[in-house]
Amino acid sequence: MDRELALEVVRVTEAAAISAAQWLGRGEKINADEAATSAMRKMFDSVNCKGTVVIGEGEKDEAPMLYIGEEVGNNQGPEVDIAVDPLEGTNIVAKGHPNAMAIIAIADRGTLLHAPDMYMDKIVVGPQAAGLIRIDDPIEKTIDIVAKMQNKRLRDVTVIIQERDRHQELIDRVRKKGARVKLFGDGDVAASIATAIPSNDIDLFVGTGGAPEGVISAAAIKALGGEMQARLAPKNEAEAERCIEMGLNNPTQILMMDDLVKGDDAIFAATGVSSGELLQGARFLGDDVTETDSIVMRAKTKTVRFIKANHHLNLKPHLLVDEDL
Ligand code: FBP
Repeated sequence: MDRELALEVVRVTEAAAISAAQWLGRGEKINADEAATSAMRKMFDSVNCKGTVVIGEGEKDEAPMLYIGEEVGNNQGPEVDIAVDPLEGTNIVAKGHPNAMAIIAIADRGTLLHAPDMYMDKIVVGPQAAGLIRIDDPIEKTIDIVAKMQNKRLRDVTVIIQERDRHQELIDRVRKKGARVKLFGDGDVAASIATAIPSNDIDLFVGTGGAPEGVISAAAIKALGGEMQARLAPKNEAEAERCIEMGLNNPTQILMMDDLVKGDDAIFAATGVSSGELLQGARFLGDDVTETDSIVMRAKTKTVRFIKANHHLNLKPHLLVDEDL
């Protein structure tokens, strides 16, 4: 892949984030998602690549844009797999809560797992504990490993977990072990990546969330030198069949980094919609100026860029949502 692609793709997440942020706190998650998806789709036309959406807004018959199998890009440049989450955290935006982002992962054709839209069990650590964890280990053992590798007291180890009833036993066990639990409402991509950002005090992500979000997170975690392991969690025969159709003969096999994102050339870009673990949200500063914070990274070179941009919306009217809001 051309390295320019990493920078070009930020324009796409910026456009989606600015569009979605205009719906922040309005209680309308579908409008917010549509605004992000439509802005992202339009911007893709100018990106130099022959892209195929492998993780997107749904199947062709259920999503008008960025559906699985859609060809995107200007048809010049490298052939790539594209995973998009134009608005990660639709409820977050509706409620005006933190942690929403617009996200894209890009990798060489055929290298991203084609994850069905179902739950996935996930565990993520930063570079220090990479190579030492196992998704099947008891959580207490994993916490010991992380504490040792991070050179921390047990009581200072911070485990980030999505606040859901399905995680209650896990939360209780982490607390009993003596580590700290940081709960979050929505947005497990930002939460999982936070484990691998050195300036962050989050040491371990664990729990069950969306499989598409899992593959997108894996691209970032690979670039940051962390480790993710996962396992799809089909809840019935139909979902298990779906995994097999998508190429996974054993639907509940452990998925290692290379099963999620093969090879070493993946790009991950995200722009904040609302402020959270990783990024500040899009800020409408007045005088038509909007400030965005993005992160873009490339697994091949391990370069991580934080990009702050000022956008003059009077010069980008296509990013304005309905004037009658
Ligand atoms: P959406 O953007 O689709 O609302 O997803 C938000 C999210 O929190 C994801 O980050 C996470 O993977 C998933 O939902 C968890 O699902 P559930 O809300 O069903 O527990």
